[in-house]
Amino acid sequence: MRLLITGRPGAGKGTQAVNITKFYNIPHISTGDMFRAAIKNQTALGMTAKGYMDKGALVPDEVTIGIVKERLLEPDCKNGFLLDGFPRTIAQAEALDKILSEQNVKLDAVLDVNVAREILVRRMVGRRVCKTCGATYHIEFNKPKTEGICDNCGSALIQRADDTESTAVNRLAVYDSQTAPLLAYYEKQGLLKTVNGDQPVDHVFADIKLALSK
Ligand code: AP5
Ligand code: MG
Repeated sequence: MRLLITGRPGAGKGTQAVNITKFYNIPHISTGDMFRAAIKNQTALGMTAKGYMDKGALVPDEVTIGIVKERLLEPDCKNGFLLDGFPRTIAQAEALDKILSEQNVKLDAVLDVNVAREILVRRMVGRRVCKTCGATYHIEFNKPKTEGICDNCGSALIQRADDTESTAVNRLAVYDSQTAPLLAYYEKQGLLKTVNGDQPVDHVFADIKLALSK
């Protein structure tokens, strides 16, 4: 399975990616997670990315395309992958088409997790993530068993630097102007599968499996 998962910021891409990658046994490639790891490790890539991410802006295409191209050449991607949060611009989508055609492979489907923008700021501002294993929670919708502590590994939960209200609003605007045009791009290729992301996590996943089985 060679899949993409797209959707507005906070729609649940990362949450569903955990289920999808386990079910299909494919690696999860999240450009956002790659940038956050680079920031944590204080690499040059991290320093570049941080300036854009803190404002809710996109990291430049040439930087992002480069890291994805490198990642897709790793052996674990040979039999499939799930790209989460990439592509995010038409230029990135065209670059991905080129990378895949050079490898003689094609995408199987593009999943669009569709959630109305009105509820997404609340999802982002209430999100908490484990600083060790990256598991995702929400202070209202997906509470950990003990407040502030990860169910999986017992580490502390933290808030992402870009999950403030003003940055979240900006990220939604950036999605509308730069990422939303991808829906028509993939619809034209016959790859787009839209699922309703405004329902409980398990129901969203059930709809994803159904969409991918068709
Ligand atoms: P990225 O990390 O990709 O962030 P995003 O697209 O803004 O999406 P999020 O990760 O915020 O949301 P999500 O859809 O994964 O939702 P989640 O499952 O966590 O990118 C961050 C930044 O990196 C970008 O702004 C940009 O600067 C840079 N970047 C990344 N990729 C780039 C690229 N390709 N090009 C250029 N720049 C790039 O869920 C959200 C919350 O809701 C959680 O609390 C969760 O528990 C809860 N939740 C999930 N599902 C449900 C549900 N069904 N019901 C109720 N609550 C739910
Ligand atoms: Mg995410």
